[in-house]
Amino acid sequence: MADIQAKIDDLRSQAEAAIAGASSVEALEELRVRYLGRKAELTQILRGIGELAPEERGPVGQAANAARQALEALLERRRSELEADQLERGLAAEAIDVTLPGSPAVPVGSPNLLIRTQREIEDIFCGLGYRVMEGPEVELDYYNFTALNHPPGHPARMAQDTFYVDPATLDPELRLVPAPTLPGEVVDGDPLPPGPEDVVLRTHTSPMQVRAMEAQEPPIFIVVPGRCYRSDPFDATHSPIFHQVEGLAVSETITLADLKGTLDEFARAMFGPERRSRFRPGFFPFTEPSVEVDVSCFRCGGTGELPDGSRDSICKGTGWIEILGSGMVDPNVFGFVKANGYDPDAIQGFAFGMGIDRIAMLKYGVTDLRKFFENDVRVLGQFR
Ligand code: PHE
Repeated sequence: MADIQAKIDDLRSQAEAAIAGASSVEALEELRVRYLGRKAELTQILRGIGELAPEERGPVGQAANAARQALEALLERRRSELEADQLERGLAAEAIDVTLPGSPAVPVGSPNLLIRTQREIEDIFCGLGYRVMEGPEVELDYYNFTALNHPPGHPARMAQDTFYVDPATLDPELRLVPAPTLPGEVVDGDPLPPGPEDVVLRTHTSPMQVRAMEAQEPPIFIVVPGRCYRSDPFDATHSPIFHQVEGLAVSETITLADLKGTLDEFARAMFGPERRSRFRPGFFPFTEPSVEVDVSCFRCGGTGELPDGSRDSICKGTGWIEILGSGMVDPNVFGFVKANGYDPDAIQGFAFGMGIDRIAMLKYGVTDLRKFFENDVRVLGQFR
């Protein structure tokens, strides 16, 4: 009997060592068969217990069963260790670096030149302390015209005739509008839902001047990029959809000189350090005085002539390129937002509006506006 006990102990320690050293689930399975399978020695011992002397059966049975249970537990523990290991190694091996280029490499897209130009403009003004705001493209006549000092029937409305939108098709939220037609006018009673002539696709980004001032007290320094609409033809230099960046700076001390300095800085940042800007008298109903702003031509340097003596076609030989309209905010406009902290007698500011499409065409030498909208990858791919 001592022999059998020793055999059991021996088998048990052999098996324990083998299990601890097993390096895979498959190797573990082999060990299970070898030490606990039908033909294993321990199994044979357990089976043979009945043939032992009666006083040996108890102690041998106990020892053999204890060994069996201990080995089963050990196998189980080692199996979970190995499985966890295997999983981890598998995951590590299959790990994908999502930052690597694809195979085959997928061509990377590029922003449309208009977006890129818009971001350049935003960057320049952010550097000057402005914030970027956006506003609705489907706009109320009130913001697009009336509060910008185009009273109903004003001829300047005709210059920007646009697309009217049936208000019934709009989100009901948009429909509750008080619509005073004079600065400071108080509208009695419940606001009426807008009628068929009260909603337009905005003809410029200027309506955001008024919305921004309603939303924020002075001082205010913002630029507003966005899409605009006018009933224009679609050809090399016109499009019924175009893009503007509006600028608005209001405080108690802003003057026309600040406008000049700001636009000079913009012209240099956008078109090169040698650029200058010049003001010409202009007219906009919502600025007084109003100016048209030109920058000195970045191709001929302002001479109007190319090195070979020919006329520069970009500036048409004038040495100047018109890039935007601007002026000092008309006190009548402040009148519409007086209740929001913009007292026309105490506050002043400037506003400007530039066409992104035009600036992108000038800066990148694009001769046909339609190229911006066609999304031809041969065009897009040139500007990364
Ligand atoms: N909104 C004007 C336009 O579209 C441009 C402008 C903006 C002029 C701000 C003056 C001040 O033509």
